[in-house]
Amino acid sequence: MTTPDYHIDDTSKLLSPSMIVFREQLERNLDGIIEIAGSADRLRPHCKTHKMAEVTKIELARGITKHKAATFAEAEMLADAGVKDILLAYSLVGPNLPRAVAFRQKYPDVTFIVTADDFENLKRLSETMVDAGTDINVLLDVDCGQHRTGVVSSEQAMERYRQIDELPGLIAAGFHVYDGHQHQVAYEDRKAAVREEFEKVLAMRDEIESRDGLKVPRLVCGGTGSFPVYAEYVDPTIELSPGTIVFGDASYTENFPDLKFPAAAVLLTRVISKPEGNRITLDLGYKAVASDPPAGKRAFFPELPDAKQVLQNEEHLVLETDRADDYQVGDELIAIPWHVCPTTALHAWVYVVENGNVTGEWEVTSRNRKITI
Ligand SMILES: Cc1ncc(COP(=O)(O)O)c(C=O)c1O
Repeated sequence: MTTPDYHIDDTSKLLSPSMIVFREQLERNLDGIIEIAGSADRLRPHCKTHKMAEVTKIELARGITKHKAATFAEAEMLADAGVKDILLAYSLVGPNLPRAVAFRQKYPDVTFIVTADDFENLKRLSETMVDAGTDINVLLDVDCGQHRTGVVSSEQAMERYRQIDELPGLIAAGFHVYDGHQHQVAYEDRKAAVREEFEKVLAMRDEIESRDGLKVPRLVCGGTGSFPVYAEYVDPTIELSPGTIVFGDASYTENFPDLKFPAAAVLLTRVISKPEGNRITLDLGYKAVASDPPAGKRAFFPELPDAKQVLQNEEHLVLETDRADDYQVGDELIAIPWHVCPTTALHAWVYVVENGNVTGEWEVTSRNRKITI
């Protein structure tokens, strides 16, 4: 593993706080993901981590043609970047139902897939599609123990899949198998837990196909922690959908030590004050780095690994460190976000660094919830 030193030749004109993508590291991470998957066509990465057309195009160039999204803006970003197979892994309700029609009309050559679990809502989706004279692929969302969405593998889940198949305007397109709760640090423990749930899904798939004669053409499986487990199965219908690992972050570096993927997206921050004693205050409030990790753990500072994060407001992060005297107002630090996905969404654009030089800026294309649809 080559860990970047996050060196930039000239930072004098770089705004802070800002996000910086180290392109070589991003490409190394993508190559590592493809290596674990076995081939690019087994992947369906989740774009919610980067939300950027430029990253999507780099993935496409590597042969990653299937992609996953959580919002219509992400789906639209993917389609505009040239993706022809898009899964919007989110139940469509309310005004999002007609947005699906608009998406189908704007991108008729894109295979568009959504997830669903609730029968009444499936009927509304079906009516919306029939009224518009179109159809949509639907994955049955299977609850593998996270208890966030989905139907637990069971007779009821099989019944729901049959209903998807029978409702007009809906195409039964497979199962969505996301297990974001599997956070065992030791890979073998994680693997055992993931396999235990997945075996139930496979049994359900086999029964639906043999007993009911229905097709389950795809199983979209996992996130960063679990996709290596699914990758071990030899089954052409399995698609692997990690998200975070494309950029990597401090949380997954700590929690998934088997995945040696250094962060490709970091934050540039500057000291704006030295209030007293051993404190330094950075321009890294929770409008620049996600606040969903617990206070005190919003980012990791490679140059100050022992610094304590004692206070954070919208625009300020106060560190306590024995090395406070080494820093003056205006000095720079690199911060690795604890949770990169919601951090990216706080930034309208990122700097891109290649070979130590800033070579451009990439728009965080689907940062907003709506592009045109
Ligand atoms: C439905 C779904 N699929 C895939 C992922 C990607 O998981 P990870 O971020 O662990 O790579 C997520 C993450 O939130 C998700 O919600």
